[in-house]
Amino acid sequence: MNKVIILAGGQGKRMKADIPKPLFRVLGEPMLEWVISACEESGLSDICIIKGFMGDMIDEYLGGRYKTVLQAERLGTGHAVMQAIPFLKEDTDGNTLVLCGDAPFIDPVAIKESLVIHKQQKNAVTVITAELENPSGYGRIIRTNNGISGIVEQKDATEEQRLIREVNSGAYWFRTADLIELLGKIDCNNAQHEYYLTDTISLAISGGKNAGAYKSDNPDIIKGANDRRDLLALNTYARMAVIEKHLINGVEFTCTDGIIIERGVEIGVGSEILPGTIIRGSSVIGKNCSVGPNTVIENCRLGDDVKMNCVQAYDSEIESGVKIGPFVHIRPNSCIKSGAKIGDFVEIKNSVIGENTAIAHLTYVGDSDVGKKVNFGCGTVTVNYDGIVKSRCVIGDNCFIGCNTNLIAPVKLGKGVYTAAGTTVTRDIPDYALAIDRGVMKVNEGYTLRKLRNKF
Ligand code: UD1
Ligand code: CA
Repeated sequence: MNKVIILAGGQGKRMKADIPKPLFRVLGEPMLEWVISACEESGLSDICIIKGFMGDMIDEYLGGRYKTVLQAERLGTGHAVMQAIPFLKEDTDGNTLVLCGDAPFIDPVAIKESLVIHKQQKNAVTVITAELENPSGYGRIIRTNNGISGIVEQKDATEEQRLIREVNSGAYWFRTADLIELLGKIDCNNAQHEYYLTDTISLAISGGKNAGAYKSDNPDIIKGANDRRDLLALNTYARMAVIEKHLINGVEFTCTDGIIIERGVEIGVGSEILPGTIIRGSSVIGKNCSVGPNTVIENCRLGDDVKMNCVQAYDSEIESGVKIGPFVHIRPNSCIKSGAKIGDFVEIKNSVIGENTAIAHLTYVGDSDVGKKVNFGCGTVTVNYDGIVKSRCVIGDNCFIGCNTNLIAPVKLGKGVYTAAGTTVTRDIPDYALAIDRGVMKVNEGYTLRKLRNKF
């Protein structure tokens, strides 16, 4: 079976943070995750990740999904792969793909096409390359009349070799048995005193084996990040690539300022995304929605024709035809049923809001089950927490909640209940009743005039 080794031992000193470099995020996901998903999309699942600097964080992130091996000392890319020899020896019949954990855009097309060439040419090693405008810093591919003869690192290259624009992506296919043999021959006689994995090319050739190159016509697949400017460049690239995909799918963007859409998000045809909108995780937006401006949506499912303006919504479901905003917070585990309207300065948490219900202003609905066609007056509060336990409110269909009502949970309002403005509801109300809780209003006539007279 084919295997994968992902090199993720790097610290990324120039990032100026104590986390392993492959865990830095591009569009919300660690670079390592992008590399893993390229493997998964290529049908490769026998993966071993080489960790080094703060390797525990890599394990913690992976949560046991894949094997890891520690490279205790950072002695080069060849040395990193040597740490995985026991993993390689589990099955030496197939081929092994080696990838860098900090080059997130390696794509399944390049992975698959290079394997075809690798097998056709019966290579011991096939390196994935690309041509760059500015090849500085990368290993250069040395070509001969009939193929390649080696890779020379920037620091070891002559002036003439530095002019070569075809570079090593850091991704390679090896015949697994040959990789094990070649790793045994690598030394560290070079400018950096490191064990270079790149030396396997010339070692294969001098050992009478074939070595080849697959040149991708997409130079982006080799993009990596050494510092935070590079990371911003990767984010910018990925951000626009995702937006482009949605444009092709029929999503409307008049202006892309401040729009960040993570790559797992789906958006239906005819929807419009307005500036300042961030859509994260596994969110799904239906057709003909209008989202934004200034909206954050994380792991939510929106139906069709939803309008959300200036909203923050997390881990919730919003059905078709719902209008939310401006200035609304939808907290996790909420379901806003179709046709509901949620207006300004409303917070909903862990609640179901029934079809066509209106919660127009200044209201908190938490831990509640609200029926259909309920109308909330301004300033309603579900009092769901007594300082020790949280309790639920149940509000039946067609209720009319007067302004400034407090519903002290646990409490249940039947169908068609009215509450008078300012009422504090402390016990269940039967269907079609009015709950009113007010002192008798007194009117003290002439009060103001008497007060003024006493003053002057
Ligand atoms: C390497 C290649 C270079 C290629 C470039 C592509 C070598 C000698 N050079 O150079 O030809 O153009 O990648 O980006 O291989 N790593 C470890 N342990 C180590 C050293 C590195 O795990 O001891 C990991 C790093 O975390 C990184 C990857 O290997 O993910 C590449 O290492 P890096 O130091 O970035 O190599 P480059 O000098 O960029
Ligand atoms: Ca690098």
